[in-house]
Amino acid sequence: MPPSGPLDWAGETLLADERAGLLRRLRRREGGSEPRCEVDGRKVVVFSSNDYLGLSVHPAVREAASRAALELGVGSTGSRHLSGGHRAIADLEEALADFLGTATATVAPSGYAANVAILEALGGPDATILSDAGNHASLIDGCRASRSRVAVYGHLDSADLAARLDGAEGRPIIVTDSVFSMDGAAADLIALDRLARRHSAWLVVDEAHALGTTGPGGRGLAAELGVAGDHVVRVVTFSKALGAAGAAVCGAEPVRHLLLQRGRALIFSTAPTHPTIAAARAALGVLIAEPELVLRLHQRARLLRRRLGERALPGAHPSSPIVAVLVGDPARTMELDLALWERGYLVQGLRPPTVEPGTSRLRLVVSAVHTEAEIEGVAAAVLSVVADGAQP
Ligand SMILES: Cc1ncc(COP(=O)(O)O)c(C=O)c1O
Repeated sequence: MPPSGPLDWAGETLLADERAGLLRRLRRREGGSEPRCEVDGRKVVVFSSNDYLGLSVHPAVREAASRAALELGVGSTGSRHLSGGHRAIADLEEALADFLGTATATVAPSGYAANVAILEALGGPDATILSDAGNHASLIDGCRASRSRVAVYGHLDSADLAARLDGAEGRPIIVTDSVFSMDGAAADLIALDRLARRHSAWLVVDEAHALGTTGPGGRGLAAELGVAGDHVVRVVTFSKALGAAGAAVCGAEPVRHLLLQRGRALIFSTAPTHPTIAAARAALGVLIAEPELVLRLHQRARLLRRRLGERALPGAHPSSPIVAVLVGDPARTMELDLALWERGYLVQGLRPPTVEPGTSRLRLVVSAVHTEAEIEGVAAAVLSVVADGAQP
């Protein structure tokens, strides 16, 4: 038998995913980033967007992005190390550091790149990274890229973390999402910080889903819990509540220098575009000027949780806009996803490897710009399809 060729391998791999109910397909969306749009030819209200505060379509943010494109151009023309650090990036870094009360903020091309870069910067063969089992893929990939030893501790299990820290070799680095993206649960940052201090460890916290949703004025979970210090590093993304793209790593002065020396995902990638930086800066301005947006988001999230009652997965942070409904079976999850689309709601079904096997789920994400009627509507639709085993 001749060896099978690359396309045979591709076909068999995709077929295996399809048979397991795990094949991902992209949907086609018409229109812009408003939650009301058309997906695969059907008018829907989107409940799977990270645009928690609706800032991607805020007039001040649109205006700033448009003006930047007209005045400065679009592309940043390269990595900041090659093409120079544009002043607007430095201004945004200053504003963010001021907002979060950190000595520095360093912009990265994306949240993914920021997480990889900070673990490259702090880690190495002489370090052990202790990583929560529920961490985002970008942190997992950052652990690998950093060439550190890696110890994965149980999800939200600080007792397991403590035991693993006792046995860890080399410099310890604790890394966690703050608000977990798959269920809205919050890390016990106070316990993690206590352990970090006891073991002289770095504490790296990914605030992707907490900036703009959690803490005073949307400053995130570390700010809510008073977790701070030179050993604490916070990654914030502009791609979620700020409605743009890109990210920043916020921490002490040496953290920035290490990133600029060792953070390959940041050094060897083009800086965000001018409209992106302008949009993120304007969105931060809106967040500071209109903190009531965060309160409206909390009110909407509470309403959805109340309506879903015991169907909503427990354990989420009370202000988290992420509400999960556990289904279990991946194929059944996608049936429900399709049934909800049929009823006019885009609610993403999540399957492995995005979530653990056996924990496939519907993940609903609320935004401050959803109307109460839309929230009532999606809750009723979810309860109905889950209860009656609806087929599309
Ligand atoms: C927890 C978490 N961290 C990081 C990222 C990556 O952010 P970005 O989309 O800006 O690359 C995401 C986005 O999915 C996320 O959910």
